[in-house]
Amino acid sequence: MFLNSMNRKGHNFLAVRRLWHRHLTTGNTRGNLATTVGKREMAVDQDISNITLRIADKVDRNLHLQRGHPLNTIKSMIEGHFKQVSAANPKYQFECIDNLPPMVTTKQCFDELLTPPDHVSRKLSDTYYIDKDHVLRTHTSAHQTELMRMGKDAFLCTGDVYRRDEIDSSHYPVFHQMEGVKIFDPSELPSPSNPSSDESIEYVQQDLKMHLEGMVKAIFGDVEMRWVDAYFPFTDPSLELEVYFQGDWLEVLGSGVIQRKILGNCDLNHTNGWAFGLGLERLAMVLFDIPDIRLFWSDDPRFIEQFRPGEVTKFVPYSKYPPCYKDVSFWKPEGFHENDLCDLIGSVAGDLVETVELIDNFTHPKTNKVSLCYRINFRSMDRNLTNAEVDDLQGQIRGEMVDSLGCELR
Ligand code: PHE
Repeated sequence: MFLNSMNRKGHNFLAVRRLWHRHLTTGNTRGNLATTVGKREMAVDQDISNITLRIADKVDRNLHLQRGHPLNTIKSMIEGHFKQVSAANPKYQFECIDNLPPMVTTKQCFDELLTPPDHVSRKLSDTYYIDKDHVLRTHTSAHQTELMRMGKDAFLCTGDVYRRDEIDSSHYPVFHQMEGVKIFDPSELPSPSNPSSDESIEYVQQDLKMHLEGMVKAIFGDVEMRWVDAYFPFTDPSLELEVYFQGDWLEVLGSGVIQRKILGNCDLNHTNGWAFGLGLERLAMVLFDIPDIRLFWSDDPRFIEQFRPGEVTKFVPYSKYPPCYKDVSFWKPEGFHENDLCDLIGSVAGDLVETVELIDNFTHPKTNKVSLCYRINFRSMDRNLTNAEVDDLQGQIRGEMVDSLGCELR
């Protein structure tokens, strides 16, 4: 996940600022603005923040804490597995933490994790900023160092995470992650006086693999798995685990041996440890057969009433309503970023948008101007949309594209 967004390009600050003004401010002047994000009053710097009202409304929904919700069930299953692991090896008691607020400092989210200064995950195009020093966490790894500094040596930390991204059936700007960390008693390492020796790293990595393979077996049953080399700024070596499920290799988690520098900064130079992070929606979609990530947010009782706490049952679609496509073509303004367009569309049409897809892209041979055409697929999960309603949404989107993003429509 961290890697997928590595190739993104520039960003139009002005565009985001205007977009934000449209959606979060209500005729305010400059400077800090106290606004309600979830149940909290939060000072948002309106010159910087790119948080839209739609996103602010998701803070404190806490789907992972809602009993019977598939995200809660999968969280409890993983926690239950680690409770058994703790019972088998009482030296490490995995503590479950799931109530840390998603507003974190850039220090927690990036600096402490050695994320390079120019890494794309720090950009306004990819991350929701509250002010220049605070973001909505992009991953639960943001809590690693504070929990390690508290002296915790084995924990699972679950929460909602926020990323500006494309719109399709498996991407949503808010999703849920679980972080796992284990810090070793140095006397257990093969070379206790040298916790960063090759043997110690190998030992920690084997322990990590054993724990995660055990967890996947407990959840998916006897499936084929493979380890793939990966890159994360905060682990070395880094690995991803993939599971063969219904004909495809599915990436289920990122993990690795915690970087020495991070351990050192947490006063843990004398030892070693591992960390992993997994996406709960990803696992739940596969296990419960949930075809669209928007369903997790559905208020429709036909969704939530299908599920019983702690039980994995296949989702029975109640109906598939017809889609309605609308295309929009425009000359690409300078600094245009697709994530700005997706946030704008999400702000206008919310969960009525199923996908946003670039279907045409050409450069005018004489003027060198770039023309883009996006196809927006509107479809409600709960009801039929009327033509008039979709036309109205499309009209609003077109208007916002001109006003907020500076697009010249064709
Ligand atoms: N934070 C990483 C992500 O969001 C996952 C990860 C966690 C990787 C811990 C390594 C160690 O993709």
